[in-house]
Amino acid sequence: MYAILGATGNTGSVVARRLLDKGKKVRVMGRDNKKLAPFVSQGADAFAADVLDTDALSRAFAGAEGVYALIPPAMTLPDFRAYQDQVTESIANALEKAGVTHVVTLSSFGADKADKTGPVVGLHNMEKRLGQIKGLNALHLRAGYFMENTLAQIGIIQSFGMMAGPVPADVLLPMIATRDIGVAASEALLRLDFEGQKTQELLGPRDVTYAEATRIIGRAIGKPAVAYIQLPDEQVIQAMTGMGISRNMAQLICEMSAAINSGYMKPLEPRSTANTTPTSFETFVEDQFLPAFKGQAVGA
Ligand SMILES: NC(=O)c1ccc[n+]([C@@H]2O[C@H](COP(=O)([O-])OP(=O)(O)OC[C@H]3O[C@@H](n4cnc5c(N)ncnc54)[C@H](OP(=O)(O)O)[C@@H]3O)[C@@H](O)[C@H]2O)c1
Repeated sequence: MYAILGATGNTGSVVARRLLDKGKKVRVMGRDNKKLAPFVSQGADAFAADVLDTDALSRAFAGAEGVYALIPPAMTLPDFRAYQDQVTESIANALEKAGVTHVVTLSSFGADKADKTGPVVGLHNMEKRLGQIKGLNALHLRAGYFMENTLAQIGIIQSFGMMAGPVPADVLLPMIATRDIGVAASEALLRLDFEGQKTQELLGPRDVTYAEATRIIGRAIGKPAVAYIQLPDEQVIQAMTGMGISRNMAQLICEMSAAINSGYMKPLEPRSTANTTPTSFETFVEDQFLPAFKGQAVGA
């Protein structure tokens, strides 16, 4: 049996589906049984628990041959970094208590750095904390910049006719579709061939700038003249808090963007077949951005 945290999310849903498709026993986890129900109709066992409930997590992990673990985003909290460390502690204690031998985690490029990378510091700490667990084999997937981050641009395009953010237009980003992370995680869980503490970067098919992403989006939505502008941090923070994101989270995102912009936060591995994933930004835009832009449900 495999236990999948965040099974209703971007990556966990792909991990759960693929393991179920392979005929594996899967325990899907999230906070809401109703949202987990579609997996139950495919044969999964649903386990609703808050990630901070260590006892519940350890019961859910008990007997699992492999666990998929992530720190859920919580965009409105006043101290997201503290929350990340609490979640890490809860997951680590539950893995230990349940005697889990193999975990695949969702980490990020930049997790090699202990500071100045915003939310990625929490993923650095997660990798370090899990590394202290005796007998645990961990594979930390250091994913690139999610293509799904650009979905936040839909409201900006619709309101202002442009795209905007804290990253300069010409900075190359290893943009990855989250479904490719789910595929890589499910394959690692099926193989269970990692030992000790391992990291693996996942970098998308190629590096893409916001300028190029904007051209691809502009063409797809029939607004080829749409432009991208980099905003100063204060304006980013104002815009994000206006969208209901906490000031703390907005500041952390600005810190991460500055780390990317300066080259401090960057992939460490040269591109290879092992860290290159298939879904192109063009495909992501056709399959997800465009339906979301048109207000349709993805897959509808
Ligand atoms: N954005 C990026 O560019 C980027 C890059 C690298 C790494 N990352 C990392 O990717 C991770 C997010 O992964 P994702 O996109 O797959 O997740 P996601 O789509 O945001 O989904 C979060 C999942 O966690 C569950 N969840 C939320 N709060 C919970 C709680 N308190 N207790 C239990 N479950 C909870 C949600 O389920 P319910 O809502 O159903 O409860 C959902 O299944 C983060 O750790 C982030 O740091 C992001």
